Amino acid sequence: MANSNLVRKQYHERLVLDVMEVQDSRGTFAEDVARGLAASPKSLPPKYFYDEQGSLLFEQITELEEYYLTRTEAGMLAAHGHDMLAAAGDPLTLVELGSGSSSKTRLLLDILAKRQARVDYVPIDISPTVVTEFGEQLLNDYPSLHIRGLICDYHQAMGELKSESHGRRLFLFLGSSMGNYTPQQAVRLLRVVREAMGPQDRLLLGLDLKKDAAVLRRAYDDAKGVTAAFNLNLLARINRELGGRFELERFRHKAFYNEEQGRVEMHLESLVSQLVPVNGLQRSFSFKNGETIHTENSYKFDRQGLREILEPCALAIQRQWLDHRRWFSLNLIEPV
Ligand code: AVJ
Repeated sequence: MANSNLVRKQYHERLVLDVMEVQDSRGTFAEDVARGLAASPKSLPPKYFYDEQGSLLFEQITELEEYYLTRTEAGMLAAHGHDMLAAAGDPLTLVELGSGSSSKTRLLLDILAKRQARVDYVPIDISPTVVTEFGEQLLNDYPSLHIRGLICDYHQAMGELKSESHGRRLFLFLGSSMGNYTPQQAVRLLRVVREAMGPQDRLLLGLDLKKDAAVLRRAYDDAKGVTAAFNLNLLARINRELGGRFELERFRHKAFYNEEQGRVEMHLESLVSQLVPVNGLQRSFSFKNGETIHTENSYKFDRQGLREILEPCALAIQRQWLDHRRWFSLNLIEPV
């Protein structure tokens, strides 16, 4: 551990967490809600979708007929994982940005466990419980696996990984998670990833591709209303955690493909003119009839769009895999 702000906690012979000791981050949700709902146009950061309820709803989204992203990416990892790992080199340590349930990572661990005597996995997640919970299951399933969780944000993690001596590493950023970043934010993050990379290291980046607008819209506005519930949960979370008085029936989920910006946008639209108290913030927020809160962007890519983000970071596409419909891409990225 090069950084003294990290505190190591050993959970198991083969599972340690390095926790970045930062100031109480609980104020942040309150601050971001206060700022976002006072702004014009109103917006809320998508990272707040993932409380316990929201994480469950997201898991349900990944199983929806309309939400092809997870299924398509998993299919590609199953079919081409050997090629991807062979192209990345041997032996590899996996470093994953956002670990989640690690279900797609398992497809790669299956291959690595057969290929090398010891497998090291470094999930980066802001939530320690996600890493310990899913980590324990992984340790049971992979006897040669060693997990070092980095509990901090991606920028902090890259600063830490940059200063450590290491073997060959494969950074994973899957699920089109980078789509939530504006191109400017994506460049900012990829620059710090690039700075952490040695010449042997690679990045495997899963990105959703530009396609028919109706297919994209349906993926974010499903028939069962799971994505609507996921979006509205943000208001329910404000009610639960900040003493908000949002009445969810007075808002509706709205999703559409913004062709010009190349992104799916999600909003919550107020169905009436209303004043909503949030007691924990000691203030109320007024909504005009039809006014929206912008809650998420999901950028969609093509090869050129990806190049434009990689180039200013001194990164390049080494190899790209597409599914048969050309809906999703896995990109092996190398430093240049
Ligand atoms: C987890 C950010 C990749 O943007 O597709 C799913 C989140 N939002 N349905 C995405 C999400 C609505 C998802 N990411």
